[in-house]
Amino acid sequence: TGPETVSPTGAPTGAPKLSQGQQGDFLTTSAGARLYDTDHSLKAGERGPTLLQDHHLREKVMHFDHERIPERVVHARGYGAHGVFVGYGTAASVCKAGFLGDGVETQVFVRFSTVLGSRGSADTVRDTRGFATKFYTQEGNFDLVGNNIPVFFIQDGIKFPDVIHAGKPHPDREIPQAQSAHDTFWDFVSTHTEATHHVMWNMSDRGIPRSYRTMEGFGVHTFRLVNAEGGTALAKFHWKPKLGVHSLVWEEAQLINGIDPDFHRRDLADAIESGAFPQWELGLQIFPDTPRQTFEGIDLLDPTKIVPEELAPVQPVGMLTLNRNTMNFFAETEQVAFHLGNLVPGIDVTDDPLLQARLFSYLDTQLTRLAGPNFNQIPINRPHTAVNDMFRDGFHQHAVHAGVAPYRPNTLDGGNPFEATAEDRPLVEVAQPLPKAVKVRQAPASFADHFTQPRLFWLSLSPVEKEHVVRAFTFELGKCYEQAVKERQLRVLANVDATLCAQVAQGLGLPAPSPTVRPKKVAPSPALSQIGQTWPTD
Ligand code: HEM
Repeated sequence: TGPETVSPTGAPTGAPKLSQGQQGDFLTTSAGARLYDTDHSLKAGERGPTLLQDHHLREKVMHFDHERIPERVVHARGYGAHGVFVGYGTAASVCKAGFLGDGVETQVFVRFSTVLGSRGSADTVRDTRGFATKFYTQEGNFDLVGNNIPVFFIQDGIKFPDVIHAGKPHPDREIPQAQSAHDTFWDFVSTHTEATHHVMWNMSDRGIPRSYRTMEGFGVHTFRLVNAEGGTALAKFHWKPKLGVHSLVWEEAQLINGIDPDFHRRDLADAIESGAFPQWELGLQIFPDTPRQTFEGIDLLDPTKIVPEELAPVQPVGMLTLNRNTMNFFAETEQVAFHLGNLVPGIDVTDDPLLQARLFSYLDTQLTRLAGPNFNQIPINRPHTAVNDMFRDGFHQHAVHAGVAPYRPNTLDGGNPFEATAEDRPLVEVAQPLPKAVKVRQAPASFADHFTQPRLFWLSLSPVEKEHVVRAFTFELGKCYEQAVKERQLRVLANVDATLCAQVAQGLGLPAPSPTVRPKKVAPSPALSQIGQTWPTD
């Protein structure tokens, strides 16, 4: 007997059976022929050369040679777990998605990750963390592909290859930039001041989480929700950890990187194995769906901006519990494929230009990473609902499709696949007026304010949190070889806050520059949480 069979996306079957590929009592080739020896190659005599005709040797080594697939181009280092999401029913007035219904239970798979390090890099580096959730709903898969930081470096997805190139190892020496963020990273962010808000979060304690279990998650973009009557609202998704938000201090993170580079994955796996199931509450910030798509002057299509929770409280809509470790890291965590276009009725995208590029990028990269277009047939990606698409053939096709040629209407195949009815339209198709548009390559003027929110974030921090931010900037900028890059980043910090700039400048032994942008007046409040929850008074 072997391990208990657990479907990678479903619950344990309970039956102690061997999994596919491990059936029967005897060792075989992959074609099922029985083997009596897999320890000696076939040779011309005991001390002679190996024979080309040893088909088992060739098959065994061939398969081993191809065990690795490309790592993800970003978020390569990750760790996943299974769980369940239970809806509260509280979202019904704004969203008709079935999985948010009262008491509805949905299986989920979550993959946490760092962004810049390679698959074998350490867990507790200073970086943004991915928080990607696949909900296997009765209406198809819904993927919420978020991060632990509520804003992003750039406002337009066309800049994504550039920001990642700046952060990844240099092509000549392949010395990672992620951990020590050298010249190219700081060159990029100091010349793209829209990155300032994200950088402030990275340099704060949020950049070195204590555990995946103590991280918030954010959908970052604004999404459009649709209710049963066809009414729409705009919304941002938030995950709130039941254990609260906790971080490491820099010295702890450094030590742990050396002592236990797998610290975060071990922490998650151990917690689940011991029954201390981590939980996150899903919440929504909801905004009216107005033609301008702004809220209290904040452009909801700008992914470098948050909406403070005082202005739009996060309303709880369900609870996520991670309760089962993976059975096979490769089959599940490596092969899972998230995609922002995996939407269910009731949830739709907006015109955020970062989000729009992501809609293209994930499918495209998975075509290479998972070798062909059939990656939704891999067990971890399969929906827990019936699939009847018209896609055929391609690399790694596992389905044996019946019937005649797939086209519609098809009068020769009993009408199959049948037409969707108006009720089960797969995507949100609410009539939305399109803006009167001309083709342009430019950003709206509302994307131009790069300093107000970084300043709000800074002012919301406690003195010790501020000290950590100053030390992080000083340490990371201190790693730059280029004086001009350090000086340019100091000019950026001068536009965030004079004290922050002066303290970092002092640490670097450089003069503090004066601001070039007049800061907006902001009212800090000591009672606010860590998310920079104050808002300009003018
Ligand atoms: C992977 C989040 C922006 C391209 C990921 C993953 C997360 C994530 C969590 C890891 C998924 C996993 O665990 O398998 C985000 C967030 C973004 C963002 C929150 C901004 C708000 C972008 C943009 C692009 C992009 C703008 C491209 C234009 C990719 C690619 C992968 C990835 C190519 C690898 C996917 C794979 O190989 O399966 N992202 N990302 N991301 N992201 Fe993003």
